Amino acid sequence: MNARLKPYEATQTPDARVLRGDARTVLGRLADDSVNLIVTSPPYADQRKHTYGGVAPDDYVAWFLPIATELKRVLQPDGSFVLNIKERVVDGERHTYVMELICALRAQGWRWTEEYIWHKKNCYPGRWPNRFRDAWERCLHFTREKHFKMYQDAVRVPTGDWAKSRLRNLSDTDRRRDESHVGSGFGKKIENWIGRDLAYPTNVLHLATECGNRNHSAAFPRALPEWFIKLFTEPGDVVLDPFVGSGTTLFAALELGRSAIGIDLDPDYVARVQTAIDELGIQRRLLEEPARYATADE
Ligand SMILES: C[S@@+](CC[C@H](N)C(=O)[O-])C[C@H]1O[C@@H](n2cnc3c(N)ncnc32)[C@H](O)[C@@H]1O
Repeated sequence: MNARLKPYEATQTPDARVLRGDARTVLGRLADDSVNLIVTSPPYADQRKHTYGGVAPDDYVAWFLPIATELKRVLQPDGSFVLNIKERVVDGERHTYVMELICALRAQGWRWTEEYIWHKKNCYPGRWPNRFRDAWERCLHFTREKHFKMYQDAVRVPTGDWAKSRLRNLSDTDRRRDESHVGSGFGKKIENWIGRDLAYPTNVLHLATECGNRNHSAAFPRALPEWFIKLFTEPGDVVLDPFVGSGTTLFAALELGRSAIGIDLDPDYVARVQTAIDELGIQRRLLEEPARYATADE
């Protein structure tokens, strides 16, 4: 096995690396506890066999578990792992491998902290005899520990016009804390929202797909990794995508001032991502070089 890569240091200028090979073995080159966030969209079971390696639905959990073992080793204890995945339809019904994978990951020691939904605003049109268009995918959030890094303020959204009209005429109930009527223990005081321009988002991300110009048939929109990077890391942290494809996660991380590591089996994707990283590096160096102006006597 190759020697382990020197981990990024929090103080260094954000940088990116892309490594070619099977994630299962290449992950072995990363040091323990060396990344803060993993965001990835692995090959979906069998789905795109002709464009990149597929895994049979029945074999999916067994294929993924050794990779997850490595992911757990390289993730810092207060880090997060976001897995974008959606079960495919086999013989007219949804296969259960995603649910089985969640249970298997929990058995491996991961905490299944949350499930976010990526609502694909522009999903493919179509008609099926037994279901409607598939307009969402799961973004499963796993953590190693109960307490993990989370920067909720970084993803606040404008409260919007609904708040203005809702807050214009407050009732007596709105002015005091209204305890849940179903005994859930949750209460709310609507008056607290006066003067607030930003609110916390829900766990549904409404984003359009954007495969055009990416040379990859299954790229996710840049806004997807971006949102999780803002939520679970701070500048200087390290983001990993073990199935990096066209490099969406890497470029989102760099743009946000985080370092990034990507892995992919496909040499063409790796070469393209590497070229783009090199070009970015050149651009950055040009931007960072202090402007030099000639003096009158030069
Ligand atoms: C769903 S795509 C990822 C797309 C990526 N999120 C993007 O925005 O471009 C999955 C990627 O995993 C890669 N892949 C498949 N099997 C792999 C393996 N065993 N190790 C590493 N990469 C693999 C494929 O080449 C493909 O690029």
